[in-house]
Amino acid sequence: MDKISIIGGTPLVGSVQISGAKNAALPILFATLLVSGKTKIKNLPQLNDIETTLQVLKILGANMKYDVSSHMREINCSQVESLEAPYDLVRKMRASVLVLGPLLARFGQAKVSLPGGCAIGARPVGYHLSGLKALGASIELEQGYVLAKTQKKLIGNKVVFEFPSVGATENILMAAVLAKGESVLENCAKEPEIVDLANFLIKAGAKIEGAGSETIHVQGVDTLSEVEYSVMADRIEAATYLAAGLSTGGSVRVNGIDPENIESVLAKFEEAGAKIKRGIDFVESSIDQKLKGTDVITQPFPGFPTDMQAQFMAMMCIAAGTSIITENIFENRFMHVAELTRMGAQIEVKGKSAVVRGVNQLKAAPLMATDLRASASLVIAALCAEGESKINRIYHLDRGYEKIEEKLKNLGAKIFREKS
Ligand code: EPZ
Repeated sequence: MDKISIIGGTPLVGSVQISGAKNAALPILFATLLVSGKTKIKNLPQLNDIETTLQVLKILGANMKYDVSSHMREINCSQVESLEAPYDLVRKMRASVLVLGPLLARFGQAKVSLPGGCAIGARPVGYHLSGLKALGASIELEQGYVLAKTQKKLIGNKVVFEFPSVGATENILMAAVLAKGESVLENCAKEPEIVDLANFLIKAGAKIEGAGSETIHVQGVDTLSEVEYSVMADRIEAATYLAAGLSTGGSVRVNGIDPENIESVLAKFEEAGAKIKRGIDFVESSIDQKLKGTDVITQPFPGFPTDMQAQFMAMMCIAAGTSIITENIFENRFMHVAELTRMGAQIEVKGKSAVVRGVNQLKAAPLMATDLRASASLVIAALCAEGESKINRIYHLDRGYEKIEEKLKNLGAKIFREKS
């Protein structure tokens, strides 16, 4: 397994071009199953999760080709014949549960392995299944698989989510676009990635209103047409590089990003003492003082994103004063605490909150990545620690951060990947 070595202490300075958003690309790739023809997707990040998603689509029978010059992936789902997403792929990437809505909507049938939990929580899919049932699907669970089918077409209906779940909103939105009649989805997730998925579907001919708000109206159509679409920029990648810049006392500019999509994070950076410049499609950050301890509570969008909680905690480990970081979205998303503590961080977990008492300096250590965003927080901690840290199991990192060593090296980081 590859490792990453980081020698800390160098302020990061410079610009980073932000890649396509993993969490927009995944649902959009699954949504190509709704189109009985070709779709052309641009700005896909080169990440393990994207590769896994393409593998799932291939197993279902999609044909695809990649145009290197235009970085365009052409996917043709007109020949899809298998309706089963197998366990060995779903367990690698739980977002594969997003094949349910499209397969049901287009073929009236789907068999998907239950995704199972992961490091950050049990990750149940009950909201997805109850939403599909509301649209007329019958759902059975058999030997760890979800068997879903409809007599004829899915029927538009009112669906009220118990919680604004990102994945459930995406699954039901994709199912509703080909259902018969109107659907009204209430208490939806409002994340920008939902809007990007809706924009893709609308461009392909879907009739959707209200994506990005808590109520989405969908008028079912018979088919979607071939479409070309470019995925939005990854707001979490952008915020991660800004956090790395601030933690090292540097100044980093992220290009290709809409500041609106990370406003809750930028506001917290400013509360912690950062200077932030918001451009049309970039954000610049710098700091001329020690970071100040700042409290954070993770919430559904537009609140502070759970996907930035671990990275913000790494920043607060070397801030002046105390920070209380509360994780409201996932039940076990403090896996990075133990590793940060091994670097000398003072963190005490009390239920859903972690109390971080800033220290002057973290110390390098051999570290173990446990999940995607926890590994990003270890990278940030290693970048501002004294000495050389080695981070193991960085396949977690490769799921969500494209060319991370290259991008960090361009900012002046002393970072090396050791292939093994
Ligand atoms: C998406 O996961 C993202 N993944 C996550 O990013 C992100 O952390 C999360 O949304 C919240 O923003 C992708 O988009 C591929 P949820 P998702 O459904 O859809 C519970 C990353 O690091 N829940 O909004 O799974 C669930 O257990 C990843 O890039 C149910 O109880 O998130 C969690 O506690 C990590 N039943 C909460 O809701 C359900 O049926 C929010 O989950 C569905 C969810």
